[in-house]
Amino acid sequence: MSGFWSGWVKFLVVLNLGITFLLFILALRIKIPTRADGTTGHVWAHGVLREGVRKLPRWWIVFSALTFVVGVAYLALYPGFGGFKGLLDWTSTQELERDADANDARFQAAIEPLRPLSIEQIAADPRSAAIGHRLYLDNCAACHGSEARGNQALGAPDLADRDWLYGGDSAALLASISDGRNGVMPPWGSALGRDGVNEVASYVLSLSGVDAPQDWVAAGKLRFEMMCASCHGADGRGNPALGAPNLTDNVWLYGGDFSSVAASIREGRSGVMPAWRSRLSEDEMRAIAAWVVAQGHHAAGS
Ligand code: HEC
Ligand code: HEC
Repeated sequence: MSGFWSGWVKFLVVLNLGITFLLFILALRIKIPTRADGTTGHVWAHGVLREGVRKLPRWWIVFSALTFVVGVAYLALYPGFGGFKGLLDWTSTQELERDADANDARFQAAIEPLRPLSIEQIAADPRSAAIGHRLYLDNCAACHGSEARGNQALGAPDLADRDWLYGGDSAALLASISDGRNGVMPPWGSALGRDGVNEVASYVLSLSGVDAPQDWVAAGKLRFEMMCASCHGADGRGNPALGAPNLTDNVWLYGGDFSSVAASIREGRSGVMPAWRSRLSEDEMRAIAAWVVAQGHHAAGS
C-alpha cells in the first residue's frame, strides 16, 4: 500500500471511530429535558400517546464500550490500520501456507506406507486404493468420468473395462499416467473419397459383427489391408505400441455408430492424455494406477 493510501485509510478509520465514540459519550451525558410526570412533554393522538424518557440500559452501555475495546485491539494486533502490519505479524498467506503444510504432512503420512507395496498389492487393499480414488477424482475424473467409464466426446477411454489402448498391466498404466499418451490416427477423407470412407467404415463395423452392406464390406476389406493394417493389424486387433485401438471388439473411443466411425476415418483422431510426471509424485501416480487396476477387478467380478 502506498504511503498516501495508507495515510488515507488511517485517517478514515480514526475519523469513523472518533465520531462513533463521540456519539457514544454524548448519549451517556446528554440530559433530555423532562417534565414532572416523567415525559418529554411530546404528545400525539390528542393526548393519548405521550413520549416517555428511558435511560440507556446498563448492559447496552457495557456492550457498546466493549465493541470499541475489541475494535481498537483488533487494529493493534492484525492488519487493517492502513499500512500497519499489526503486532502479531499475521498474514493470510502465512496461514494458508501453514494449513497447506499441515495437510501435506497428513497426506504424506497416509501415502508413505504404500511405498513398499506393489501396485497390485495396493489395489487389493480397499483402504489403500481409496487414497488413489481421491486423487483420481481430483485429477482424472474431468476427462475419464467419476466412474472411470470414459468420455467419447473427448476420446478419453473407459478405464474400468478390460480393453486397453496401451496395455493394462501396472507398468503400462504407470507409463500412460506419468508420460501421457497421444495416439494419432491420420485423416483419410481425401485419400479415400466419400465412397471409400463408407466402404472401409462398413468393413470396420463388420469386424465387430455389426451388419453392413456386403459389397461395401468386401471393397472396404481391400482398402483396409492397404491403408490401415500397418497400424491396426491385418486382423484389425490394434497395436498397443502405437495406441491403435482394437477395431473388432465393439468398444469405441469415439462412438461405434456408422457416422462416428466414418468421421474417425474421414477426419482422423488425435486423443491427448496429458503427462502427470511434473504434477503428481511417484507415490501419487502409483496410488491412482492401483485404483484403476482395482476397477478392472470389479469389472471382471473378482
Ligand atoms: C484432458 C483429459 C484427460 C485427463 C485429465 C486425463 N486423461 Fe487419461 N487419457 C485421456 C485421453 C484422451 C486418452 C487417450 C489417449 C490416446 O488416445 O492416445 C487417455 C488415456 C489414458 C490411459 C491409457 C488407457 C489405455 O487404454 O491404454 C490411462 C491409463 C489414463 N488415461 C489414465 C488417466 C489418469 C489416471 C488420469 C489422472 C491422473 C488421467 N488419465 C487424466 C484424457 C485425459
Ligand atoms: C498411423 C497409424 C494408423 C493408421 C494408418 C490408421 N489408424 Fe486408425 N487409429 C490409429 C490410432 C492411433 C487411433 C486412436 C486415435 C486416438 O487415440 O485418438 C485410431 C483410431 C481409429 C478409429 C477410432 C476407433 C474408436 O475406438 O473410436 C477408427 C474407426 C480407425 N482408427 C480406423 C482406421 C481405418 C479404417 C484406417 C485406414 C483407412 C486407419 N484407422 C488407419 C492409428 C492409425
